[in-house]
Amino acid sequence: MKAIRTGTSPSTLDSLELVDIDDAPRPGPGEITVDLKASSLNYHDFAVVKGMIPTEQGRIPMSDGAGVVTAIGEGVTEFASGDTVVSTFFPEWLTGPPPQSAFTRVPGDGIDGFARESITAPATAFTRAPEGFSHTEAATLTCAGLTAWRALFVDYALKPGDTVLVQGTGGVSIFALQFAKAAGATVIATSSSDKKLERVKQLGADHVINYKEIEAWGPKALGMTGGRGVDCVVKVGGPGTLDQSMLAARVGGHVSLIGVLTGMAGPVQTALLFSKNLTVQGLTVGSRAMQQDMIAAIEANGIKPVISDTFALADLADAFRHQEANKHFGKIAVEI
Ligand SMILES: NC(=O)c1ccc[n+]([C@@H]2O[C@H](COP(=O)([O-])OP(=O)(O)OC[C@H]3O[C@@H](n4cnc5c(N)ncnc54)[C@H](OP(=O)(O)O)[C@@H]3O)[C@@H](O)[C@H]2O)c1
Repeated sequence: MKAIRTGTSPSTLDSLELVDIDDAPRPGPGEITVDLKASSLNYHDFAVVKGMIPTEQGRIPMSDGAGVVTAIGEGVTEFASGDTVVSTFFPEWLTGPPPQSAFTRVPGDGIDGFARESITAPATAFTRAPEGFSHTEAATLTCAGLTAWRALFVDYALKPGDTVLVQGTGGVSIFALQFAKAAGATVIATSSSDKKLERVKQLGADHVINYKEIEAWGPKALGMTGGRGVDCVVKVGGPGTLDQSMLAARVGGHVSLIGVLTGMAGPVQTALLFSKNLTVQGLTVGSRAMQQDMIAAIEANGIKPVISDTFALADLADAFRHQEANKHFGKIAVEI
């Protein structure tokens, strides 16, 4: 079968190569074989293929994968041949708190990922895909969808009438906007682009701010809530956006610490944090059980992922260049 591998360590975009590899083996006990049809790009995958996250040479990238079950191993009762499935970000984190080992075995990072035509893996490394979803739609859920879901409904208990602030218009943020609107929240969305802000308004954003034009977007968002502050900030922007996020939040509000877009470390205004009684919570995607809950909610609310661009597997490097140029809105999908 065909696969994409990194050609150097650390990886570079130019080193990505389309190669022939052995077909997926027959499934052993507890395993399934999945004919992969789609994947999708996350910033995490970008960091792997750009060498920002060191991996061994020859790694098959991509954390997200969706497709059709073609064979099941002994003891598998959850799936049958022909079922459509989507991968989980942490194949070993099924429910409860994450096992320590989970973080070292993320597909496309610690172990080989989904930039290939088929895979044999434990059945528990997949969930069923939502009813009525195409494979490309299903493949957007593993990382971006679940991260947004967990920020709003697991780590924070979003309720109708709450106000949520989402940052930028990438995969996580657009899912957060859609989930928050479906739950009856008011949404403030930020972007560097007025054109993209028009699109978030069409998706239901109640208020928008161009964070490039308004550097003090925290107080601006605070003003949009009548001075009360937002209940939950889905903070993908990294340390450079923490101060403004805390300024935007209400007293006792929740800031979900997710992204690294402005770097890996930075100063924290600790006095602001405690004086506003804020909860700042770090998170890493979520468990298989959380993914199953998210899929139920997606089906109940008829939510469909926003995919701005689709590339063929062989053009994966171009897909990442598109992401790097910040031309996307929501998700970039890969057809396999
Ligand atoms: N902790 C976790 O478990 C987890 C899970 C998923 C993602 N993440 C992180 O979350 C971040 C977003 O991931 P993604 O996959 O959604 O990325 P993505 O699809 O590539 O989206 C990135 C978007 O972020 C916006 N952006 C860039 N710089 C920004 C800034 N300084 N302030 C606000 N927005 C900014 C841009 O939107 P505009 O063009 O509209 O400005 C850009 O399109 C990444 O840092 C990623 O590593 C973490």
